[in-house]
Amino acid sequence: MVRALLVSLSASLALAATAAAYSWDFVDNSLPEPTFATQTACSRELRGVYEDLSIYAYSASCSLTTNMLPAENNMRQLIVLERQHLEGDSERDIREWNHAVHESLRGLSVPGPYDIADNDSEESAQIRFRSFRGRTRGHHREACTFTPVEMPVSQPKYRVVVGSNCAAEETPYLIDNLPSNTEILPVRTEGFVAPLDSLPKDHPIVLKNRALKHRQALQSLVDQVDVETMEKDVTWLSGEAPGSPFLTRSSTSKQSLEVAQWLKSQFESYGCDTVELMPYQNRFGPNVICTFKGTEHPTEHVIIGAHHDSRGSFLNPRAPGADDDGSGTTMLLQIARIIKANNLSFGRTLVIAAFSGEEQGLFGSAALAKKLKASGTTITMMIQGDMLAYRKPGEPLQVAFPARYHTPELSSLLRNVTELYVPNAVVGTTGACCSDHQSFWEAGFPATAFFERNGPIADPKYHNSGDLVYREGYDFEQLKTSAQAMLASVFEVAEAKVSGADL
Ligand SMILES: *[C@@H]1O[C@H](CO)[C@@H](O)[C@H](O)[C@H]1NC(C)=O
Ligand SMILES: *[C@@H]1O[C@H](CO)[C@@H](O)[C@H](O)[C@H]1NC(C)=O
Ligand SMILES: *[C@@H]1O[C@H](CO)[C@@H](O)[C@H](O)[C@H]1NC(C)=O
Repeated sequence: MVRALLVSLSASLALAATAAAYSWDFVDNSLPEPTFATQTACSRELRGVYEDLSIYAYSASCSLTTNMLPAENNMRQLIVLERQHLEGDSERDIREWNHAVHESLRGLSVPGPYDIADNDSEESAQIRFRSFRGRTRGHHREACTFTPVEMPVSQPKYRVVVGSNCAAEETPYLIDNLPSNTEILPVRTEGFVAPLDSLPKDHPIVLKNRALKHRQALQSLVDQVDVETMEKDVTWLSGEAPGSPFLTRSSTSKQSLEVAQWLKSQFESYGCDTVELMPYQNRFGPNVICTFKGTEHPTEHVIIGAHHDSRGSFLNPRAPGADDDGSGTTMLLQIARIIKANNLSFGRTLVIAAFSGEEQGLFGSAALAKKLKASGTTITMMIQGDMLAYRKPGEPLQVAFPARYHTPELSSLLRNVTELYVPNAVVGTTGACCSDHQSFWEAGFPATAFFERNGPIADPKYHNSGDLVYREGYDFEQLKTSAQAMLASVFEVAEAKVSGADL
């Protein structure tokens, strides 16, 4: 099955003449559309069908006994590993990745989160995690093991399905043992995926799209997105600014907590009603959650997210993550700055969430989505900004919405908002995957994401220790464009007010 990603041509026509070197007819044939079903049987649920591979999730009390996995392993989790599709990928690159994944998994076991004695320093724990292979320690729980599932087809080779004897929250260290291009598509054992089929006709998102019109007062806020302050923030996060302490923002590093504390202090300075550090996973830095309480519909929540954690090259301790996702985190700070500078309030409750644990499999966002689901919270929309600043030389400024794991009516509204308020951006679609909006989408909330490019990832420093600000292709005009589109979207849906009056 081949799936073409077609760029929105209506928006690009005006720019086509100036972007002659740029080809729009790329085809992303690596990403067959998954189809989801909810076939709730006693013990398992069909979670996705990729070509002729069916992926099932099992409740935590079940062991996996499908012909896909050996029954004796008492599997508690299925994990789908995917090679992130990069522009220019060859068949050979994909085969090599597949081989590297199988080699990494051969005989690998990583400790559950409770193996490390509480007194260990963070550093020695890190070393221990890396060198730990299939041993158990004293009274601590056994290590998690991984069994690759034989795929029933020889193609495609960019996706490997793995079974584990541990639950999702016990295996976040798996990613550290895999090649850098590997994404985990979380297929969790608990909390079955229940995305919305479509939004009801009277949902605020649907109603807004029908009544949408340009407002100059919102445009003047969009126009305040400022490159100078974003440069200051993103270089602090990436460790490039003089005095920045950050070598890495990896979720499992001690610096992850320091990053979270720094973000908390920034949000506090921007006058959030509350700022919370939200721990959720042993030895991970916490999520940082800033809230502006709604004045008219305080129970209706609009969430804007990005992830503050980063990944470097395989086994390299430097992880500047300037694009992934220093750019999104900087966008969050920029929005908070503009809220403060204009004394804005909101009709709906606005939540600005900087997640950790994204790289390990969306753990931080999953924890928040689960909490909000359990408390019955109304979420009008959740949007994520992940990788907002890379612009391939010669390409126009762009805003891309995801081709999968999103709520189409929401993406449609935000595409319209973007075209109204950021007319210089070419708006399109990407197959790039995955980010924190997926946690909310899985939980049945309307969710989507913003990405820097139409088509596959082109950033050559993706998941690389060279993901710096000061390098070719890191472009503040692109970051500004992405941040403007997200600011317009969130202010539109949260219903921003200046000094208490509607825009
Ligand atoms: C941690 O250190 C304290 C004091 O040195 C000791 O009493 C305790 O047993 C240690 N805990 C673990 C889990 O090793
Ligand atoms: C919004 O987008 C949809 C298609 O995605 C279109 O049908 C609709 O007319 C648009 N609305 C506005 C106000 O642009
Ligand atoms: C800020 O807005 C609030 C209403 O939300 C208003 O009461 C207050 O006077 C405003 N402050 C300034 C400095 O404009």
